[in-house]
Amino acid sequence: MTTSKKVRKAIFPVGGLGTRFLPATKAMPKEMLPVVDKPLIQYAVDEAVAAGIEQCIFVTGRGKGAIEDHFDYSYELQDTLEAKGKKDLLSEVLAPVRTPGAITYVRQQEPLGLGHAVWCARNLVGDEPVAILLADDLIKSGRSCIAQMLDVVEQEGGNVIAAMEVQDEHTHRYGIISPGQKKGAITEVNSLVEKPAQGTSPSNLAVIGRYVLQPEIFDELDRQEKGAGGEIQLTDAMARLIGKQPFHGLAFDGERFDCGDKLGYIEATLAFGLGRDDLSDGVRSIVKSAYQSL
Ligand code: G1P
Repeated sequence: MTTSKKVRKAIFPVGGLGTRFLPATKAMPKEMLPVVDKPLIQYAVDEAVAAGIEQCIFVTGRGKGAIEDHFDYSYELQDTLEAKGKKDLLSEVLAPVRTPGAITYVRQQEPLGLGHAVWCARNLVGDEPVAILLADDLIKSGRSCIAQMLDVVEQEGGNVIAAMEVQDEHTHRYGIISPGQKKGAITEVNSLVEKPAQGTSPSNLAVIGRYVLQPEIFDELDRQEKGAGGEIQLTDAMARLIGKQPFHGLAFDGERFDCGDKLGYIEATLAFGLGRDDLSDGVRSIVKSAYQSL
């Protein structure tokens, strides 16, 4: 099976409360937390756009207005920067703004789970395959992770999820893959389980927050069945597609940072800081002196 339709749309579930980052996220969406000088959500959108995604669908909630503002014009700021001749900053401010209509917003009224958030976008996606990106999972890579996954969809057809080995003691935090045949970085997915209890995980291969799924996922989500944690899980809906359509995991080329976790966030800040020409020397000397004082 190969997909006949181009993947043009991406869903960004951004309705979560961000309780793990309180009090920072009391009045600010967690997706607006910056890594160096760019909010998490902008990294995710940039990754999707680099893969050729044309339409971004944000599934938001109350208190998430800052995300909409970030992807919009900010006339006062633009005028001020223009008047001061600060061209570089002006282009940074304009970078997230996409052509009118390229970003749409839909609200998830209740926090019923990731599967429910994705289902909220069904009418905007229609009968097309779709990418899904969780901004908490920040991926540092040469070629965009979603672009790498689209190559696999082209090759194998069906559905592709990002996969990564995690430590035994962390499997209960993830959707976990029961792996089948392996072809290089591509693994057939035999089944999926969301957040298995410790000691019961079928493998160490975890689902990372990048998905390219066929539109039939919405038929599965229509069932609105609750799973792990009493939430409607995307993993459960995907599990029901296995056997009906090709389903593969990709061990993508890149580094993933769990920015929903404080340590992962600090690690991401260091890695992205070290990767910046204007900051790497400074970050290096901070890390060195911190290391010496341990
Ligand atoms: C979600 C998914 C889970 C996946 C994880 C990746 O969990 O439900 O299957 O492994 O993202 O980050 P969450 O982290 O939202 O609890």
